[in-house]
Amino acid sequence: MPTHVITGAGSGIGAAVTRRLLERGDEAVLVARDAARAKELAELHPGARTLVGDLANPDRLSWAFAHQTMPERVDSLLHVAGVVELGAVGDLTPKAWHFQLNANLVAPAELTRLLLPQLRVAQGHVLFVNSGAGLAASAEWGAYAASKHGLKALADSLRQEEHANGVRVTSVYPGRTASPMQAKVHQQEGKEYDPSRWIDPESVATTIVTALDLPRDAEVTDLRVRPGR
Ligand SMILES: NC(=O)c1ccc[n+]([C@@H]2O[C@H](COP(=O)([O-])OP(=O)(O)OC[C@H]3O[C@@H](n4cnc5c(N)ncnc54)[C@H](OP(=O)(O)O)[C@@H]3O)[C@@H](O)[C@H]2O)c1
Repeated sequence: MPTHVITGAGSGIGAAVTRRLLERGDEAVLVARDAARAKELAELHPGARTLVGDLANPDRLSWAFAHQTMPERVDSLLHVAGVVELGAVGDLTPKAWHFQLNANLVAPAELTRLLLPQLRVAQGHVLFVNSGAGLAASAEWGAYAASKHGLKALADSLRQEEHANGVRVTSVYPGRTASPMQAKVHQQEGKEYDPSRWIDPESVATTIVTALDLPRDAEVTDLRVRPGR
């Protein structure tokens, strides 16, 4: 059975895709920010293993993983975790920039670096959950959009570098999706949150699983998903 390393499995899109993969008998290794969260994730997703690594602190991921048993086989690495903090460029502090760039860009780069040897052996798949903000930046979304534009660049470079090694690379660009992150965005925008207006995380999970399951003669490079209503 394929083994997937997944970030962001605790809620929203990551929880939906993790459930989907475990239900069909695949193996999942879930990255949790700390040991307490790892215990919660193991309870939320019975049968999954966990790895502790705080994506807010990518400089420490290598050290953290050196003290844990890493999966021997990795067929796919699903970068789903993400953070957002809205604000105009005139107001955003370096702390807000570092927070978003670390979790949304530097940590996925470092996690990919650390797992590439296993991914190459398996001729595996690296999938990045990006965002519409990774393709176009709006007012108040500068730091988040910059992190996601960077994530697009990371995916595009990695795809070219790893093609010869048989590693496939996909970016998924969802529009607004009903999740705790979207509830927070509405709060920051001062708008009322109605989850029924936005994409169901299950639908984004379907696009992710479709990209993973495509036969090896083809590679989904980019997938844009927007609310259907
Ligand atoms: N919701 C949207 O409208 C939307 C639209 C486009 C793109 N996206 C992208 O979709 C992805 C999933 O978002 P979502 O909507 O499902 O959000 P979510 O429900 O807020 O989930 C975010 C996940 O990221 C994890 N995470 C955050 N910081 C972390 C850290 N320092 N270390 C480890 N894990 C960390 C969270 O872990 P905890 O559970 O421990 O907090 C959580 O599981 C993100 O990359 C987001 O940018 C979302």
